Amino acid sequence: MTEPIEVASSPCAMDMTHRLAEQGLAVDRYIHPLSIGSVRLQNNLCLAPMAGFTNVAFRLIAKEVGGCGLVATEMVAALARTQPVHDERFRVLTRNVAAEKPLAMQVYGRDPELCAETARALDAAGADIIDLNCGCPVKKAKQSGCGVALMREPDQVGRIIKAMVAATAKPVTVKIRLGFDNANRTMVAVAQQAVDNGAVAVFVHARTGESKHGQAVDLSGVAEVKRAVRVPVIANGSMDTADAIRHAKDDAGADGYQIGRAACGDPWLFRNLLADLTGSPRYTPSYDERRRLLERHFKLILELFGEQRGVRVMRKYTFFYCNGLPGVRAFRDRFHRIANPAEFHALTEDFFGGLERGLIHGPAEHLTLHETAESGEE
Ligand SMILES: Cc1cc2nc3c(=O)[nH]c(=O)nc-3n(C[C@H](O)[C@H](O)[C@H](O)COP(=O)(O)O)c2cc1C
Repeated sequence: MTEPIEVASSPCAMDMTHRLAEQGLAVDRYIHPLSIGSVRLQNNLCLAPMAGFTNVAFRLIAKEVGGCGLVATEMVAALARTQPVHDERFRVLTRNVAAEKPLAMQVYGRDPELCAETARALDAAGADIIDLNCGCPVKKAKQSGCGVALMREPDQVGRIIKAMVAATAKPVTVKIRLGFDNANRTMVAVAQQAVDNGAVAVFVHARTGESKHGQAVDLSGVAEVKRAVRVPVIANGSMDTADAIRHAKDDAGADGYQIGRAACGDPWLFRNLLADLTGSPRYTPSYDERRRLLERHFKLILELFGEQRGVRVMRKYTFFYCNGLPGVRAFRDRFHRIANPAEFHALTEDFFGGLERGLIHGPAEHLTLHETAESGEE
């Protein structure tokens, strides 16, 4: 169900002259509009679904900063028959606003009927595109035959997609990996089954369920999928530099690019990728803009999660945003002690004001992944 969440009247009060005019980009080899079934994306840079990150607040920030053609919710577990459709978790996961559209929502499950019911519920909740998760590699997914375990069962993927397509008029897509593990690269069979049963685009995370996130992506697998299906193929996996995107297009024929982790710490990434790929100047936000963006994000998070939980949830975003700045480690230690929005405002003003006035200086400090990602609640 769509509920009002305050939308900025101008994109984060950012300097509009620096905002890339997506409509001005016209058609470029790498960056261009893209149709996913009946849904037209302004450009082919997509935000990847990320559990614990891509809630409505985060997605709206990505859209307001600019450059992102499609945002996505995190995966939504296929409803159990006994579960009320609009329970609190479902409500938070699917909450959305018009300003972020078009929006993809993602189903996680393996039972065709339950996935179809969930697709119906996501459609009613405001999804423009409904995606099936065939990539989640966690133990629970593997044990229950969901996520990446579906890469071992192309026929089952076909059955799920067929049921989802019958349940909704919205475009249905699939997000796959190259295979369950390195010895079983089934991406072509899974993509073909999905498309034969009505999927209108394939997102390919160019790693198998066995690969670690840091491991190099294997674009040859994306190329194989591209050769096998006649729907858009969107490459995923470390698509966070202009060079990576050029390779995905030149070596694999990707029609679009989906970006995950790199976007967590850098809301300006999408517009800077557009800039790099279209020969426009890059945009470097001032310290004050960073602070204002953080304040804006926090306001949205408070609306979504309330004060007590919101302060905890905001930690991970804050540490990602501030990573690499001088003095970030001391800032992080102080941030852990804040208990309410007033303390958040005071601390961020102090930190960014200090950076701006040169009172905080020194070399760039980089937090470890543990120090950033493990700091938040989820
Ligand atoms: C914290 C986290 C949560 C994720 N949650 C999901 C999810 O809900 N659904 C999904 O399809 N992929 C999920 N992924 C995988 C990403 O969508 C993406 O495929 C992966 O991070 C590789 O892209 P990247 O190299 O740009 O990060 C998640 C990844 C991370 C790091």
